Amino acid sequence: MREQWRQRWREGRIGFHRNDTHPALAHFWPGLDIAAGTKVLVPLCGKSLDMHWLADAGHPVLGVELAPEAIEQFLDEQQASRSQAGVSRYRQGGFAVARQGMVELWQGDFFHLHIRQVDEIGAFYDRASLIALPPATRQRYALHLAQLVPPGAQGLLVSLQHDEGDHGPPYSVNKAEIDMLFTPNFVLTELGSGSRDAQGRMESVWGLCRRGPLA
Ligand SMILES: C[S@@+](CC[C@H](N)C(=O)[O-])C[C@H]1O[C@@H](n2cnc3c(N)ncnc32)[C@H](O)[C@@H]1O
Repeated sequence: MREQWRQRWREGRIGFHRNDTHPALAHFWPGLDIAAGTKVLVPLCGKSLDMHWLADAGHPVLGVELAPEAIEQFLDEQQASRSQAGVSRYRQGGFAVARQGMVELWQGDFFHLHIRQVDEIGAFYDRASLIALPPATRQRYALHLAQLVPPGAQGLLVSLQHDEGDHGPPYSVNKAEIDMLFTPNFVLTELGSGSRDAQGRMESVWGLCRRGPLA
C-alpha cells in the first residue's frame, strides 16, 4: 500500500487533492471553539491546503505524510504563492521533518509516530485520511489517533460513503463503522452530511472529542 501511494504521487494521480479549502473545515471548525495556539495534527495530510487555513486560524500544524513528493509540492507551492519563509529541515526519529512558518510536515508512516514525539498536540483534522485506509487498517488508525492526542482534544473528521462496496481508496465508511471505530475513545457528534455527488459519493462530517483514559 505504501508503494502504491508513492506511485500515485510520482504519477500525479492525486484526484483527492482540492485546490481550495474544504468547506466543512471553514464551516465547522470555528464551532469546535479550539483556542488559537493549539497544535493540530493532520494525519495523512497530502499537500492539503486545509493546513494553510488552520495555520491562518492561529494553529501550529503537524502534518504526517508518507510521500516525500507531497511534502515537496506543498512547500514549493507555498513558496510560489504565499510566503517566502524559509524551510528548516531536521530528523525526528524515523521522520524527515520540514518546517515552514506555522506548518511542520513529518515525512514517514503515521503509524510510526509516537506520543513521545508529539506531546504538544491538542486537536486533529482528518479529511480523506480514514477513508484512504483499507478496512483492516482503520481500527488501528482510530486507536493510534487516540494514543496521540490527550483527553479533551477535539477534532474534525470528514468521511465518505459510496456504493462501490469495499473498493477503494477512497473507501466507503458508514456511520455504523465510525461509531464502532471511535466511540470507545471519543465522544462523537455528527455535524452534517452533504448530498451525493455525480459519482454517488456523499461526505459526512463529525466532531470528535477524546475521552479520558484509553479503552
Ligand atoms: C486520500 S489522500 C488525502 C490527503 C489529504 N488528507 C487531503 O485531504 O488531500 C491520503 C494520503 O495519505 C498518505 N498516506 C497513506 N498511508 C499513509 C501512512 N501510513 N502514513 C502517512 N501517510 C499516508 C498518502 O500518500 C496520501 O497522500
